[in-house]
Amino acid sequence: MQQKSITKILQQGTAGSVVTLCGWVRTRRDAKTFSFIELHDGSCMSGMQIVADNSLPGYDDSISKLTTGSSICVTGSLADSPGKGQKFEVQATSITVHNRAPEEYPLQKKRHTFEYLREIAHLRPRTNSLGAIARLRSSLSYAIHTFFQQRGFICVHTPIITASDCEGAGEMFRVSALDAHNPPRTEGGTVDFGKDFFGKEARLTVSGQLEAECYALALGKVYTFGPTFRAENSNTSRHLAEFWMIEPEMAFYELLQDMDLAEEFVRYLARHALDACREDIDFFNLRIEKTLIRTLENIADNQFVRLTYTEAITELEKHNETFEYKVSWGADLQSEHERFLTEQVHKKPVIVYNYPKAIKAFYMKLNDDEKTVRAMDVLVPRIGELIGGSEREDRHDVLVNRIRALGLDVDDYRWYLDLRKFGGAPHAGFGLGFERLLLLMSGMQNIRDVIPFPRYPGNAEF
Ligand code: 4AD
Ligand code: MG
Repeated sequence: MQQKSITKILQQGTAGSVVTLCGWVRTRRDAKTFSFIELHDGSCMSGMQIVADNSLPGYDDSISKLTTGSSICVTGSLADSPGKGQKFEVQATSITVHNRAPEEYPLQKKRHTFEYLREIAHLRPRTNSLGAIARLRSSLSYAIHTFFQQRGFICVHTPIITASDCEGAGEMFRVSALDAHNPPRTEGGTVDFGKDFFGKEARLTVSGQLEAECYALALGKVYTFGPTFRAENSNTSRHLAEFWMIEPEMAFYELLQDMDLAEEFVRYLARHALDACREDIDFFNLRIEKTLIRTLENIADNQFVRLTYTEAITELEKHNETFEYKVSWGADLQSEHERFLTEQVHKKPVIVYNYPKAIKAFYMKLNDDEKTVRAMDVLVPRIGELIGGSEREDRHDVLVNRIRALGLDVDDYRWYLDLRKFGGAPHAGFGLGFERLLLLMSGMQNIRDVIPFPRYPGNAEF
């Protein structure tokens, strides 16, 4: 018989019907003539109670010896459960034991710290929290595609290996097929990347934006959703070396429309998490972050605050004594400042825009004041920056000057400059860090726990 997931059984099952389900044993409790087995299959937060009578074949030899972590398939009839908080139980007529986990199974039924679970990232999806994160991640990915597809955006797969540094920050991982111990050298003695796989230096992308711009200036509204890589040595609970980013890019959009879209997007996703992932969100609200549901409702139901960078600085300067890093006009906002604005001052998401050009990337459109650029960041409680975006500089000469002024090589950006030469138009976009979104939507504290196998300084395990 075809097995069913616990989710399906809870949604569609009827008492008296025969079902087969498969999964991993959480606990076993023995009564006089039978055992209760709590079985989980990862399809939802709930497990299923299996009642295994001692008359079952194999009861004495294996069923009554099942341990936490063992894998089994059960066939039996669905019965209304007398127990509180569970709809059905399964009265087993046969149980196949696939594996009896030895006693040293690292996930015994007790609370484990997230630090410990990171060391066993190959087994941690079997815990309630990491299972819930995996389901939330999947559901939000789907919602992201749905959001854009419903609005006529075209999904573009931008390259992962690239020769351009989108953010111009030099924080890229090298991709090379040269023999690291004995690379070919130029006459000058430097490594000869002309002899490398791509005939030039190549790296892992930090953002798909530049390539997305090419497609926006052909197809109108596009988005990317892919992995990005940053070799920044940030050992924080909000940075990863490999993370997933969603980057919409829209031709004929200006900064204001960009901000509107970002706000609509985040509010849509908060509503989606509350409605479509309720069981997991309830779990997070109970066990991880007591303010989670309130925060998500607040995001979904209310307009975001919008402030210029200058207004934000004026506000922050009033509280400079409370900050580790003091702010004044021109300073980059640290996460303590971002969180202060969204958590203390406004108590909801805040969009800060028109930042000083000196602290932002080369491609952002220069304002008429020549001091600020049309950049915007969406700041949210507990995380700080969730989204970074901008209207793009669409004037060829201004862009060339910006690239030069920042010490970047104009030659490297020739194709990007072509977009301004041939059919250039106003356009704008933003990038949302998917793992930061998951922190926001789950209440989890550390970004290393919302991606299956985190990569960060000193760790590429698994
Ligand atoms: O602000 P960032 O650097 O912007 C860009 O990359 C633009 N090219 C986006 C665009 O306009 N298309 O990064 C965007 C977002 C940040 O707001 C943050 O949420 C996330 O990506 N992010 C990180 N997430 C995890 N770990 C890191 N090291 C991150 N760096 C950025
Ligand atoms: Mg940013």
